[in-house]
Amino acid sequence: MPRVSIDHLQPGVFVSLAELGWLEHPFLLNSFRIADKKQIQILRQLGLKSVEWDPARSSVQPLTENAPAPEAEEEIDFSGAALNVMLDSKRERAVRVREQRERLARCERLYEQETTGMGEILKDLGARPVESHARAKAAVGRIVGGLLKADSVAVHLVNMKGKEPGLAHHAMNVMVLSLLLGKAAGAGEEDLKNLGLGALFHDVGKTEVPSRVLKNAQRSASEEHFYQAHVGYGIKNVAAIADMAVAARNIIACHHERFDGKGYPNHLPGAKIPRLARMAAIANRYDNLCNPFDLRTAKMPTEAVAQMFKREGEAFDPELLSLFIKVLGIYPPGSFVQLSDGSVGIVVETNSRELLRPLVMLYDKDVPRHEALLIDLADADLGVKQALHPAKLPLPLVEYLAPRGRVDYYVEAVR
Ligand SMILES: [Fe+2]
Repeated sequence: MPRVSIDHLQPGVFVSLAELGWLEHPFLLNSFRIADKKQIQILRQLGLKSVEWDPARSSVQPLTENAPAPEAEEEIDFSGAALNVMLDSKRERAVRVREQRERLARCERLYEQETTGMGEILKDLGARPVESHARAKAAVGRIVGGLLKADSVAVHLVNMKGKEPGLAHHAMNVMVLSLLLGKAAGAGEEDLKNLGLGALFHDVGKTEVPSRVLKNAQRSASEEHFYQAHVGYGIKNVAAIADMAVAARNIIACHHERFDGKGYPNHLPGAKIPRLARMAAIANRYDNLCNPFDLRTAKMPTEAVAQMFKREGEAFDPELLSLFIKVLGIYPPGSFVQLSDGSVGIVVETNSRELLRPLVMLYDKDVPRHEALLIDLADADLGVKQALHPAKLPLPLVEYLAPRGRVDYYVEAVR
């Protein structure tokens, strides 16, 4: 990048302070477009004589050598003391960012651990149904216990490259999202446990359907028939578990029923579909839209929500669907967003208390991914300007922000 003298800067020039290091300047980002003269004064106060600038991202050219001298600056207090206060608050932010990063990493490890466990449970179900059921109940109980104690719930995007996704990831996502909806709908402990268990096992019948049928998005009539049979196989697979609650079994049986009566296998009309199964159906559809077998056809979280609400609304319990959209927020975790200052990031966490101010991981090509800046919009002077479609973003940016290529969720209780 070319360099420009501080004396020739003006608002609109896009500068980079990457050579200085993030903690050595008070700005939120290493690279940014200069917004006002105050920022130029801060750069001068930092002792800089020149900085790198990016012509492609600037809205104006720097002033030229023989441009008329800028009019007298208005008096702003930028004594060393004022600058130090700004740098101190920057250091505090750095500590918070490190803590948030560690918390996210902890959550991701927990997710991987639980998902590995879920994978084993699902695999063992045929051979050891009773033990698998007991293990699944314990896993669901751990998550439900945390959620019940919590005042609010944080929904995390699981964002590290992990194992090859399989049925366990889908089962986990549907469980997490169903529980989130169930808690918001005021379900009690017993209902939440049955909801979690049923959601976890909802697709166990798919193990008996060939993967070429499962993966085919354009199934023939006979393939579709085979596909739909996964519901029946699922019921059969859990038949040996004598003490499995009927409410949990009903989720397996009814997760493809539709509120308008056009679902399968029994074409049950809305009120006849057990309420917990209606919740799991919503979570299931959302996850299938965000994480289809062919990820090239994946919908962004914001698109998935919009599609379910606008185009598929009659398939779902309208009250529960509205609640689901409410608990996920306008920018669910996994949404690519542009912030009000023009920077681009991905929503990595939402908190049910502050849905409009999610935690966002920012893209900065000068910062290694494991140190990527996290901006908590609840304590930054920034907002989300718009959701962006990853297909329209440069590939390095998408891979930096979402190396997993999937939208997997984990929930955590917040006291
Ligand atoms: Fe299914």
